[in-house]
Amino acid sequence: MEGCLQAVVLVGGEGTRLRPLTYGTPKPMVPICGVPFLERTLSRLKYAGVDEAILAAGYLPAAIRHHLGDGSRLGMRLTYVIEDEPLGTAGALKNVADHIRGPFFVLNGDVLTSLDLSAMLAYHREKGGLGVLHLIRVEDPSAFGCVVHDADGRVTAFVEKPPRAEAPTDEINAGTYLLEPAVLDAVPAGRIVSIERETFPQLVAGPIPLYAYTTEDYWIDIGRPEHYLQAHRDILDGRLRLEPLADPQAHRGRMWLRGDLDLQQGVQPPAYLGDDVELAPGATVGPYAVVGDHARVGVEASVSNSVLWAGAVVEAGARVDGAILANNVRVGHGANVLTGTVVGHDAQIEADVVVPPHSRIVAEPAVAQT
Ligand code: GDD
Ligand code: MG
Repeated sequence: MEGCLQAVVLVGGEGTRLRPLTYGTPKPMVPICGVPFLERTLSRLKYAGVDEAILAAGYLPAAIRHHLGDGSRLGMRLTYVIEDEPLGTAGALKNVADHIRGPFFVLNGDVLTSLDLSAMLAYHREKGGLGVLHLIRVEDPSAFGCVVHDADGRVTAFVEKPPRAEAPTDEINAGTYLLEPAVLDAVPAGRIVSIERETFPQLVAGPIPLYAYTTEDYWIDIGRPEHYLQAHRDILDGRLRLEPLADPQAHRGRMWLRGDLDLQQGVQPPAYLGDDVELAPGATVGPYAVVGDHARVGVEASVSNSVLWAGAVVEAGARVDGAILANNVRVGHGANVLTGTVVGHDAQIEADVVVPPHSRIVAEPAVAQT
């Protein structure tokens, strides 16, 4: 792919559906097997020949900048454009228009996919329209943008989140676009504009076509806890092969345990262990456990079907199954943290407590950062 290809990554959302994880960590920095989601996305862009990414941010942008800086560690140039107030998905693009020099990718910042970006660009060149939208098929399209197109691929309707009974198709907007700069001319400046509800419907009615690019790729929006867990399950099952990281150091000391081979005592594959994880005698980890750097699992404790972020501590005899624990969570000895529970940063679960399924737990005092 040629040089100077640009991408805009939309990372301004508040990630409300992932709370309490997103109280301290913006959604793009939520780790996927120990590496911030956005870092994986940027590596994927880099791999496809994109050397400049513009991050349209707004919520907790310092956390993003602190980790990724100017992008040199990833071999790319990163430009941050911060919105004081969210401008919406098209408003955010209009807001970065000064940086755009040619056709550019747009990525929703919460989509994990195996989409081949280079092939999508080639398709756009072949079609020569205003842009290309990546689509996938889903069973229930009502939580997404429904995209209707004709036999030639021209988009004829874009309906954001219709009631299920009214969904015109099972093909949905998968949150990756390749757009010509002319698209930005259609977006009014200085106010909130949704690309899904305003810009795409308007362009679809205009003279220059937008094209649909439907693939059978792996695809998931990690913006809900159950999908975040599912994404890890799929990665551990090998359904999604993660792209090599632009910064290989990020994998140092980490272990994938996939086969039947019990490489480390107490581990039931598939599992992923971060750097410096300690398992006490009799501890079991897996199947489907992702345990972050510096985590500790105590004597006779067990962790399965769960994702633990860095520094989590599961004390002796405790059980964690089907849960997500953010950084430095401590589960007291003998406690049970079960199905669908999400525990925010630094929270402590007292000894012997049985946490009801699907609980949301935050550290005391509960302070929501905005
Ligand atoms: N900069 C900026 N400013 N980013 C924003 C803003 C904003 O005002 N609002 C949302 N975003 C970012 C979010 O951070 C996220 O990465 C992306 O835009 C999409 O927002 P979501 O809130 O995750 O939308 P959604 O998942 O309900 O729906 C969108 O994604 C679906 C696919 O996952 C839509 O694009 C649907 O049409 C699509 O099907
Ligand atoms: Mg989303």
